[in-house]
Amino acid sequence: MRTFKTFAIGAALAAVASASDVESLTKDTFPDFVKENDLVLAEFFAPWCGHCKALAPEYEEAATTLKEKNIRLAKVDCTEEADLCQSFGVEGYPTLKVFRGADNITPYSGARKAPGIISYMTKQSLPAVSILTVDTVEDFKTQDKVVLVAYFAADDKSSNATYTEVAEKLRDSYLFGASNDADLAKAEGVEFPSLVLYKTFDEPTTIFKEAFGAEAIEKFAKTASIPLIGEVGPETYAGYMATGLPLAYIFAETPEDRASFSEKLKSVAEKHRGVVSFATIDAKAFGAHASNLNLKADKFPAFAIQDTVNNKKFPFDQETEITTESIGKFLDEFVAGKVEPSIKSEPIPEKQEGPVQIVVAKNYDDIVLDDAKDVLIEFYAPWCGHCKSLAPKYDILAGLYVDAGLTDKVTIAKVDATLNDVPDEISGFPTIKLYKAGDKKNPVLYSGNRGIEDLIKFVQENGKHQAEVTYEEPAAEAEKPVVESVAEQAEAATEAAESAAEEATEAAKSKASEAATEDHDEL
Ligand SMILES: *[C@@H]1O[C@H](CO)[C@@H](O)[C@H](O)[C@H]1NC(C)=O
Repeated sequence: MRTFKTFAIGAALAAVASASDVESLTKDTFPDFVKENDLVLAEFFAPWCGHCKALAPEYEEAATTLKEKNIRLAKVDCTEEADLCQSFGVEGYPTLKVFRGADNITPYSGARKAPGIISYMTKQSLPAVSILTVDTVEDFKTQDKVVLVAYFAADDKSSNATYTEVAEKLRDSYLFGASNDADLAKAEGVEFPSLVLYKTFDEPTTIFKEAFGAEAIEKFAKTASIPLIGEVGPETYAGYMATGLPLAYIFAETPEDRASFSEKLKSVAEKHRGVVSFATIDAKAFGAHASNLNLKADKFPAFAIQDTVNNKKFPFDQETEITTESIGKFLDEFVAGKVEPSIKSEPIPEKQEGPVQIVVAKNYDDIVLDDAKDVLIEFYAPWCGHCKSLAPKYDILAGLYVDAGLTDKVTIAKVDATLNDVPDEISGFPTIKLYKAGDKKNPVLYSGNRGIEDLIKFVQENGKHQAEVTYEEPAAEAEKPVVESVAEQAEAATEAAESAAEEATEAAKSKASEAATEDHDEL
């Protein structure tokens, strides 16, 4: 009996495997396949690649659904078909490309889960704006989680142009339809010209209430399409940032906890809908993100609001219980502008030991914005190698102003920008700026060689006091300006995320590092 069962299951699996809707292609079959099928998604993979293995079942599922819509999914094993893969510029695995015939090839930029693939490819198969009638509109509404339908008169060229412009820009993200049927508009409870967003979650329709402008429509699409309380993760993070609205995070460790907090905070989220977005976040996989919001990253549940435009952080006191009332009050105060942003800072040094002034967030204004002095400040990170090699020269530089008795005119300072929230936009380490006496609004960015003489000259030329000190630089010492790029920083961040995740489970690890490479540059 047992043998028979095993055999039966094995045979069933074999049958499923051979009935795959993903077409396996070679250099001989590829050209005809993309010629014969109008829309093809092709995956270039290697059998050993972990992300490819994770994608495989999702890809199969999407292939079956999409086949009915005449959208075909194919795959190419690049270990077998190296030339074919090379001819499409494949450099990493998996690489996904959308083919409309042999010549129109675009990179796939959707998610790597079945629903995401289905949704993305469905959008690719339709025109930017689908023309709808009373017979097609109901079916159209069910084509994706979020669809937008505009209703305007056939001769309303201006609404048409505005809407089409937005649809072309956002067509990878949302489905856009339009209808000229006045009765249909009436049945939907709107008049010409108007726009309705239909979704499969929360309340089913949201009506656009502003004047028909491209910017307003784009903002509407981005905000109204977000669930009342969604979930922040690698696939949704960019969407939240794109709304420009503050984002309220609910950190919780289990799906049950996230569901129960969502229920508790629903009324609060409803009250502030369109003003603050709400989302839960998996504290097990992405708990490290809590420290970016100035929360303790080892105490959950936790709650914080992030001003996504100015990157200001408003952590909710982790000793206070998260309830409808406590968060309701916090949100009311936040919206009224009564909550002060939290500023991460090292303690102010009791005594400035060396010639370089140590700046932290708490003494930033006192030192850097001291109107009487020209202040040269270096923003560094402890892990940055170029910062380390600059350090001894920077000390010498600072010493020169001390020895010359110029400390009432020039300050040489540095701040660890990883431990202190600074108002400056830092895109690489080290970043060096001069805040001129009497003009603290327009700091000058230093982009020269990082030699002592060059820095002296910079302070002299750009400072109000034109302070001059002299230093004999050995000829060989001048160094090329090297800023560790954001990419290198992201790499370091990824490494950090990965090493932190090593302690967690395997599953959590792959999730966290995926988040780090795909989204966490800003997270
Ligand atoms: C918008 O304009 C285009 C181009 O003139 C036209 O083909 C299309 O039918 C119009 N859409 C609607 C809904 O009227």
